[in-house]
Amino acid sequence: MLPQKYLRLGVNIDHVATLRNARGGLHPDPVDAARLAIKAGADGITAHLREDRRHINDADMKRLQALCLELGKPLNFEMAGVEEMAEIALAIKPHAVCLVPEKRTERTTEGGLDAANLHNQITPIARALAENGSRVSLFIEAVPHQISASKSCGAQVVEFHTGAYAHALDMGDTDKAEALLDAMRAGARQADKLGLEVHYGHGLTFDNVTAIAAIPEAKELNIGHFIIGEAITMGLRPAIEEMRRLMDAAREIAS
Ligand code: PXP
Repeated sequence: MLPQKYLRLGVNIDHVATLRNARGGLHPDPVDAARLAIKAGADGITAHLREDRRHINDADMKRLQALCLELGKPLNFEMAGVEEMAEIALAIKPHAVCLVPEKRTERTTEGGLDAANLHNQITPIARALAENGSRVSLFIEAVPHQISASKSCGAQVVEFHTGAYAHALDMGDTDKAEALLDAMRAGARQADKLGLEVHYGHGLTFDNVTAIAAIPEAKELNIGHFIIGEAITMGLRPAIEEMRRLMDAAREIAS
């Protein structure tokens, strides 16, 4: 399969809110950062409304949706697959909802959603969101039974969790990283055959993005922590532009 050349970049702005919340005030504003990210070349904005509201809050989500509607860009609303969150997403009507596993004690989303075991919990939520006009994505590990379970839960998209791949590279374990990459390539082929759109996200950086961006079936990457971190040193616009350049270069090489 030839890669579809353009790969979308969703910028996750959660950690602008983390910084704001460290002081408890209004600054920096994640909505201002989202506007800048779009001006700098982001194709969409991703934000995670956690049950403990540790970064993004309910008002942020409403304002982000208003901004995305104003600018004609998609909002990808990440949330746990629970009723409280479903009610909020049904009211906000974002372009996309990505269901993720969530544990209060974790620092970040540590693994993929167990779509196979949570089938009965996820399916009605996925259906209600889809009927309300949002594209439903499940954030899963690239393993065959989770991909087929995502399809049967009614998802239109799967986002493969790249955290373990990124971590293996950080640890210098290139064999493990290569094996995980192979699994994510095979997962993309399986998902594509099932009619699921393929996204990737978590832990992506300038150093590890190329191999992921070169996967032919990939349509979107969602990147947050690294870009927001680089915004402090190189600036938000240059960080987004450099990520865009690396993604475009990877597509050129792969095509
Ligand atoms: N995609 C999903 C589904 C996520 O939960 C996250 C983290 O919130 C990301 C992408 C972005 O990960 P990172 O902040 O490590 O780039």
